[in-house]
Amino acid sequence: MKLALAGYGKMGRMLEQLAPEYGFDVALILDVHNNAGGEGIHKANFQGIDAAIEFSTPEAAVANATRLAAIQVPVVIGTTGWLQHLDAVRIAVESNDSAAVWSPNYSVGVNVFSRLLREAARLLANQPEYGAWAWEIHHDTKKDAPSGTMLKLVEDMKHAGYSRTIDISSNRAGRVPGTHEVGFDSAADTITLRHTARSREGFARGALQAARWIAGKKGFYEFSETLFQ
Ligand SMILES: NC(=O)c1ccc[n+]([C@@H]2O[C@H](COP(=O)([O-])OP(=O)(O)OC[C@H]3O[C@@H](n4cnc5c(N)ncnc54)[C@H](OP(=O)(O)O)[C@@H]3O)[C@@H](O)[C@H]2O)c1
Repeated sequence: MKLALAGYGKMGRMLEQLAPEYGFDVALILDVHNNAGGEGIHKANFQGIDAAIEFSTPEAAVANATRLAAIQVPVVIGTTGWLQHLDAVRIAVESNDSAAVWSPNYSVGVNVFSRLLREAARLLANQPEYGAWAWEIHHDTKKDAPSGTMLKLVEDMKHAGYSRTIDISSNRAGRVPGTHEVGFDSAADTITLRHTARSREGFARGALQAARWIAGKKGFYEFSETLFQ
């Protein structure tokens, strides 16, 4: 299968390295030099491409995803920091009868962590003595803070029924690939749930798994829908 990469930074390079293990031949690489404003995304460039994976910048991601939808190339969107435009991208994908998977976090472990967290939030929803915090740390080149993953975890806790304040904080330092922690604290005890990524490899492997899943499909999916069917 032929794969296009939109974004050739740290994630794009790792995807290129791992793609053959998932049966993909990287046939097209778009970066800021050949794709400013999404100009590299047109039918001629994408002849024979089965799927695209998008890990670029928050500023570029929406234009890239919308243009890929217009030429009906299934896309795995990995970039974070654009979620305020989620509905617009969903409409572009659905109205063009195209396909996309999105997630602020393609680690299988984080998606399991999120399920556990939702259950804890549901169980503590009616225990007012427990307050909650959410904290994350990433490397100092990460552009968005709080992380997209953190915002989604907190959103998921609210949907699970936890309506009290969740105090959120972020740090950016060094090379940390990504740690997310959520805690519940009462006078009697503390519950701490933490996910620690060891490297970017888990994100790249999840995105490649998603690309294999979305190739040949239609529709708009969140990554966990492709994992826990
Ligand atoms: N969902 C997940 O699991 C997950 C995991 C890791 C990272 N991320 C997110 O993925 C994104 C990329 O991460 P990264 O670590 O690879 O960042 P990075 O190393 O900064 O790479 C981003 C690349 O995108 C390029 N770019 C800029 N405009 C573009 C355009 N119009 N078309 C194509 N490429 C363009 C940048 O080029 P220039 O540097 O020349 O501008 C840069 O090389 C970030 O938003 C990050 O938060 C998500």
